[in-house]
Amino acid sequence: MDEKPEGKGLRSREWFARQDKMGFYYRSWLRNRGLPDDQFDGRPVVGICNTWSELTPCNGHFRTIAEHVRHGILEAGGYPLEFPVLSLGETQMRPTAMLYRNLASMDVEEALRANPLDGVVLLMGCDKTTPALLMGAASVDLPTIGVSGGPMLSGHYRGQKIGSGTNTISMSEQLRAGEITLRQFHEAEGAMSRSAGSCMTMGTASTMASMVEALGIGLPTNAAIPAPDARRNQLARLAGRRIVEMVREDMRMSKILTRQAFENAIRTLAAIGGSTNAVVHLLAIAGRLGIPLTLEDFDRLASEVNCLVNLKPSGEHLMEDFYYAGGLPVVLRELVERGLLHADAVTANGRTLAENVAEAECWNRDVIHSYDAPFKPHAGIAILRGNLCPDGAVIKPSAASPHLLQHTGRAVVFESIEDLHHRINDEDLDIDETCIMVLKYCGPKGYPGMAEVGNMPLPPKLLRQGVRDMIRISDARMSGTAYGTVVLHVAPEAMAGGNLALVENGDMITLDVAARSLNLHVSDEVLAARRAAWVPPETPLAKRGYTKMYVEHVLQADKGVDLDFLVGNSGSPVARDNH
Ligand code: FES
Repeated sequence: MDEKPEGKGLRSREWFARQDKMGFYYRSWLRNRGLPDDQFDGRPVVGICNTWSELTPCNGHFRTIAEHVRHGILEAGGYPLEFPVLSLGETQMRPTAMLYRNLASMDVEEALRANPLDGVVLLMGCDKTTPALLMGAASVDLPTIGVSGGPMLSGHYRGQKIGSGTNTISMSEQLRAGEITLRQFHEAEGAMSRSAGSCMTMGTASTMASMVEALGIGLPTNAAIPAPDARRNQLARLAGRRIVEMVREDMRMSKILTRQAFENAIRTLAAIGGSTNAVVHLLAIAGRLGIPLTLEDFDRLASEVNCLVNLKPSGEHLMEDFYYAGGLPVVLRELVERGLLHADAVTANGRTLAENVAEAECWNRDVIHSYDAPFKPHAGIAILRGNLCPDGAVIKPSAASPHLLQHTGRAVVFESIEDLHHRINDEDLDIDETCIMVLKYCGPKGYPGMAEVGNMPLPPKLLRQGVRDMIRISDARMSGTAYGTVVLHVAPEAMAGGNLALVENGDMITLDVAARSLNLHVSDEVLAARRAAWVPPETPLAKRGYTKMYVEHVLQADKGVDLDFLVGNSGSPVARDNH
């Protein structure tokens, strides 16, 4: 067998170049699929990290995508090896897929480090699969390309476009208010999810697919090509070809995911009106690479950035429309031309961000606005501070009601998600539209897993009066497909002893988004007395196994909700042999 000179120095040579007992082990078992011995001649070995699962319907088409990646790797002279990792289905998993994001990232990290891989293509789509795979891969730092599965086709129901999650929420409110029938509700379920792919609103999946493109770790147009569109498979094939070159160039993940790349992602997040979930995910990915990123970076860099994209939940269109209008490259070009991005950031295809988008054109200005005539001005995520959230809280002003952005109201407190469900439909609940709803114990440790329950349902009696928004405050997250004046990610969370745990019915709270403040009007003395009497509730599920480890080690929202021992120290050392 002639050794390819390019194989010198590759990680996989620690396995396959061995001419001894261990080399026999490493090669022979892989040859049971009919491989000739020149398969081990020094060609780059590339993993295809697949999150296909029938329990993750958004990633249900990933076997096809993996085949296209495989073809691309073979065409470029690489050796593809596909492997599964824990998949996280957002709609099915209880208590929340977010509880398992870090576990899936550990699966990815250990699979990459333990095996004879020189590079990896990450196949990801449903919300938590994207950050989990990026976090795990970042901890190993091989040459890496992300390929997203793409959004579903637009939903259509009785003459109107309906979007994943966003219309689920609005229609469930309509059902509770008696405005639609149960039959109509069921009819809409089928009309909404009518093709392969992830949620087709600018929810968390589409936001994270956009982050993959803005960070430069995916190829241009990664964010928006619909899942059933043949161009999605074409992108996968090109990624397969390119990853082989990246291995040859030793273009590791850390060469792309620099501080500049994260700053680009943060500004892009504002320009697309993206999900608040991206805040915790970007913090966690940066943490794995040892890049200091803080909540303040989101406010400082992007709160003044205009939102250009008219997509649900903040707007009216869907991801399919976004792609046909030109997709994320148009947004990136608008930002580059205003000097808002690091134009020279290097991306996975070896070109700079600016080079990638130089020829991007917009085909529909109702979907993608120009920067000078934006869809919404100054629409980035705002970071709040105050005695209710000394370590920060998050609000997305573009999804909020303008009249509530500066408001003082009486707290109506729910001690748990069960308490909320138990009392929210009570006609005697003492609440009106000026009140502020407060939900406790839904943070990283409290739920556990920091569920997407921050956009609490409104009381039916207020819905019937036409009330459609109220201020809601919690330590939870919110689905990227949701909307409303919702303060999220309060840190420290109630379960960690934050002042959120001490709020009582009738306390007055002031939200002032312009001043970036969230304050509880209760004196320090009274808070100290309440704290002395405070007894944290028992965490369900946390007595054993992964959940116990998670609760003991999880960081707060302002640190990305990662496990403390997974931050930093990234690398891909080859461990000793097994025999
Ligand atoms: Fe999978 Fe929304 S539920 S992307």
